[in-house]
Amino acid sequence: MTDPNLRVLIPAEKIQERIRELGEQISADYPNGNLHFICILKGACFFMTDLARAMQRDVFVDFMGISTYGKGKTSSGEVKVTKDLDISLEGADVLIVEDIVDSGVTLNYLMHVLEQRRPKSIRIAALLDKPERRLRPIHVNYVGFQIPDKFVVGYGLDYAEKYRNLDAICILDSPDQ
Ligand code: IMP
Ligand code: MG
Repeated sequence: MTDPNLRVLIPAEKIQERIRELGEQISADYPNGNLHFICILKGACFFMTDLARAMQRDVFVDFMGISTYGKGKTSSGEVKVTKDLDISLEGADVLIVEDIVDSGVTLNYLMHVLEQRRPKSIRIAALLDKPERRLRPIHVNYVGFQIPDKFVVGYGLDYAEKYRNLDAICILDSPDQ
């Protein structure tokens, strides 16, 4: 795709290489027991499917819809569950799989919601982390890449639902042109 507003920040091969490393690390950290991957729709679905295939053990996958952002680039600060899980988390090790941690508002809220479902443990894996933007404290256990405070798209991340299927992570310079 050639789009003058896009600049590649993380090329596709680098993303895949890092996901293979994360898969090995997470597999080693959970040698046994039921491990549930919870994919936060829609942005994390590309990361979750590649990470699940990089795992050296069985994982359950489930999906949760959460919305914080409207159609633009700024957070509304409101969190809404738009689709809930199908599988019970009771007694399970849970790994929340997220595309990007920005203000931390979404994950902070989600941790509280999921803790009430009596899992054995909960950890977070995020492909991208923008630590400069944090408004709520959140510990991300597995981070793919730390990135600067720029708006990025691709590999699941969108701007007004566009650009999700790019295989690289790109900086979006002038989204409104
Ligand atoms: P938080 O609640 O501010 O941490 O927001 C997390 C959510 O905001 C992510 O799951 C994304 O959907 C969205 N988001 C944050 N930064 C970006 C970005 O740079 N590009 C696209 N979406 C983003
Ligand atoms: Mg998201």
